[in-house]
Amino acid sequence: MPYLYLLATFLFVFGIKKLTSVKTCRQGNRISEIAMLLAIVATLLIFSNLNIGLILAGVVVGGAIGALIAKKTPTTQMPEMVAALNGFGGLSSALVAIAFLLIDETLKDPAKTLWDTGAVNAISTPATIVIGMVTLTGSFVAYFKLSGKKLVHPLAGSNRHLAHAALGLAAVALGYWQIVSGSHAQMSVATALLALLAAGLGALLVLPIGGADMPVVVSLLNSYSGVAGAAAGFVINSPLLVVVGALVGTSGLILTQIMCKAMNRSLGNVLLGGMGEETVAKDAKDYKSIKSAQPEEVAMLLDGATSVVFVPGYGLAVAQAQHVVRELADLLQKRGAMVRYAIHPVAGRMPGHMNVLLAESDVPYEQLWEMERINGDFKNTDVVIVVGANDVVNPTARENSGPIAGMPILDVDQARTVVVIKRSLAPGYAGIKNPLFEAENTLMVFLDAKEALEGIVKEVKELK
Ligand code: TAP
Repeated sequence: MPYLYLLATFLFVFGIKKLTSVKTCRQGNRISEIAMLLAIVATLLIFSNLNIGLILAGVVVGGAIGALIAKKTPTTQMPEMVAALNGFGGLSSALVAIAFLLIDETLKDPAKTLWDTGAVNAISTPATIVIGMVTLTGSFVAYFKLSGKKLVHPLAGSNRHLAHAALGLAAVALGYWQIVSGSHAQMSVATALLALLAAGLGALLVLPIGGADMPVVVSLLNSYSGVAGAAAGFVINSPLLVVVGALVGTSGLILTQIMCKAMNRSLGNVLLGGMGEETVAKDAKDYKSIKSAQPEEVAMLLDGATSVVFVPGYGLAVAQAQHVVRELADLLQKRGAMVRYAIHPVAGRMPGHMNVLLAESDVPYEQLWEMERINGDFKNTDVVIVVGANDVVNPTARENSGPIAGMPILDVDQARTVVVIKRSLAPGYAGIKNPLFEAENTLMVFLDAKEALEGIVKEVKELK
């Protein structure tokens, strides 16, 4: 059986490697699914005294709920789903640690403490409960924030940090009590208090974080769920769980760092849980010289364009315009233009959101250009069509202050003409004004992205 575990571990690593490229990520998913199946089979074979009926019932009920949620969730709500899944990952690790306390043979002896089960078990049990519960509630606060709920922290400034530090110290004290408590009644009380306190801490850590920083939080919580899984692996002495949890933990942390870089936030700030206060949306009346255009005018502009770049953003997902954007791109390519898509790492509402959307309409991978690669080339671009993006093309990010100050952006304002398709002058996720909309070389198309692109496709087809 160890060989099956080894094979599963190898396949997990290989699957994650494949996930790093858009071209191979579907394959990566398949390989990881096979690895998970192997891991489950190996575990069932190793532990012979399992209640198979109960496990199968869990698989059927859980699988059915998962399939239903996956089918019903629109792509615009994927970030919330990822947050919720991270939360459930944390909860299951915490429950594994609690189950260990209930069934461990050593602990059945009333004279024994958690420490008597061995130092590794003793330390990893409270650690699993704390990290798991922090992940659970932190992820659900992230879930509600991503769905637009306004949740606020009861404390502000240094009081908030003091409260978090006090709760952290209380968790260490409770963990110690859980390890050394002489009676099972005391250990149960310590465990319950520890779980409750960690749940409170998780929620409080995420509550003050808002707006544009939420993706960092979600990927950090993803990492926490992996760490909780690895710690649970130590509790039940499962090397596979340790390895897989560590893989999730580290890959989540790497993703967090990539996100931090893309949003210009330091990881230290994220770990302290206090960056990125909510911002207030500016009024559309702040704009002065706006030039608006209709699809016919955009089609005429595209008639002479030799180089066109599409910049997809969250609005593309809302409008479900990924197929029609591909249709327009194909038409322009047939007419001799060079067509590319510029992908900002935090466009949309989750890492890889735009890649997932465009993959749905089978956009050729070679047309997807990452920010660093395409930024130097906007000055040679005839027309940039910004489809439902806002913050990721906001030039105020180049200034020294403001909610997105320092965030790397797509330098679309350097193109000869910029067409921005969005329904109004409403702000994006960060809630701030975008001077791109009133730039000399910008034309605004105030329509739903799908409707606008369908209009442009129709007009381009009519061009000679
Ligand atoms: P945003 O700045 O959020 O702007 C999206 C724009 O799409 C809005 O201004 C909206 O304007 C427009 N829109 C909405 N529905 C539309 C529709 N049906 N048709 C056309 N336009 C529509 O998006 P972005 O540029 O992609 O930037 C992403 C932001 O989200 C960043 O601030 C990022 O930090 C944050 N964020 C990212 C992630 C990740 S990991 N990607 C996760 C959470 C948050 P109208 O209402 O006027 O149409």
